[in-house]
Amino acid sequence: MHKIIIEGNRKLSGEIKISGSKNSAVALVPAAVLCDEKVSIANIPNISDVDSLEQILNYLGAYVDRNGDIIKIDSSKIENKVIPEEISKKLRASYYFMGALLSKFKKVEMYFPGGCSIGERPINLHLKGFEALGAKIEEKENFFRITADKLVGTKINLDFASVGATINLILAAVKAEGTTIIANAAKEPHIVNVATFLNNMGAKISGAGTSEIKIEGVKYLHSCFHEVVPDYIEAGTYMIIASALGNNLKISNIIPDHLEALISKLEEMDVPMQIGVDYIKIDSPVCLKPVNIKTQVYPGFPTDLQQPMATLLTQADGVSTIHETIWENRFLNLFELNKMGAKASLLSNSKASISGPSELIGKTVMATDLRAGASLVIAGLLAKGTTIIENADYILRGYENIIEKLSKVGAKISLEEIE
Ligand code: EPU
Repeated sequence: MHKIIIEGNRKLSGEIKISGSKNSAVALVPAAVLCDEKVSIANIPNISDVDSLEQILNYLGAYVDRNGDIIKIDSSKIENKVIPEEISKKLRASYYFMGALLSKFKKVEMYFPGGCSIGERPINLHLKGFEALGAKIEEKENFFRITADKLVGTKINLDFASVGATINLILAAVKAEGTTIIANAAKEPHIVNVATFLNNMGAKISGAGTSEIKIEGVKYLHSCFHEVVPDYIEAGTYMIIASALGNNLKISNIIPDHLEALISKLEEMDVPMQIGVDYIKIDSPVCLKPVNIKTQVYPGFPTDLQQPMATLLTQADGVSTIHETIWENRFLNLFELNKMGAKASLLSNSKASISGPSELIGKTVMATDLRAGASLVIAGLLAKGTTIIENADYILRGYENIIEKLSKVGAKISLEEIE
């Protein structure tokens, strides 16, 4: 267990280099299981979610060599064992082993995945898609046994453009007989990153990044080298920090196109930005304007930046609103922000309002999930005095070297291990 301690109210300047995307890496590592030879993936972020996936690969008997930001995986000799609950519950993305192992062995047995408590998080769309491909699902309490004599391509219409279901169904369909079409597919950059990885191995996937993805099944996937796309949620989090406290703070190694929804909201708030090919430089303005935010699937405003943004809205001059449409339980950070002096109110389960500007004061607060934790880091950086963030392990799941990155630009922030 860890806590983060911040002495706030300091301007930040210099450069923060963005790491590989968490939500891409956590799909690419299980996808590597499908390769019949060895794969190398670069720009892998050093976060605990990747450690947990590495643990699953080791458990299954894969060869794994992780050195710096490069991971080499050879799954050609893995054993198809039941993935125990202690490992699968550590993170949500363990569910990608469902699609990957089902595709490779026509059988997978594992427990329901874990992840941040931000809503109910069902996997019905994943399961419905596996069934459409010919799989049989047996579910007992928390345990899933998914088997198929063979997987046969078909058209799958997703009721909702789910990121996880889209990726899992690509994984399941990649070696199926014939052609699979996923309609109403999610379009996030990590979907494209996963499809490109599989295509580099010899898969035949087209349309990733649009709402209709076509997968022609192949029999064999060969060795390849691939790179994780920069993390637009990590980038967005640091852009929000720069909008609050930046003094010509440069966020580099980014793809600005992935951040259009955030850029347009920051522009609406009057944040001065200089956008380059692979970087954004930001100064915090004297006065921030309030805005209304509605989370949507990509390319809409990302739910994963809603909580960090809530902290910035405490500094805007007037009333801002947030409408969360993806997750049911993503406002717990507001209670912690209020302890620090924010004026946030829940209007309903999915709507909140924030009045500002508020002077934030350092307090002991609790991270209830990864992005709620990021919201509190931003609050701690803004606050006068000392902020202690308990449950900081959530934050380490998704932000590589967050302490080092923020210290380098002038923050006074440290991590402490507690019993
Ligand atoms: N949904 C269903 N049934 C399903 C799948 C999803 O009803 O079978 C619903 C969910 O309950 C939710 C919505 O669809 O209301 C969106 O779920 P989605 O499947 O798109 O999300 P996910 O794959 O579980 C990924 C990210 C999340 C991110 C969401 C939305 C990973 C490992 N997680 O989750 O990331 O919020 O997409 O963009 O990729 C985070 O990084 O903090 C995080 C929570």
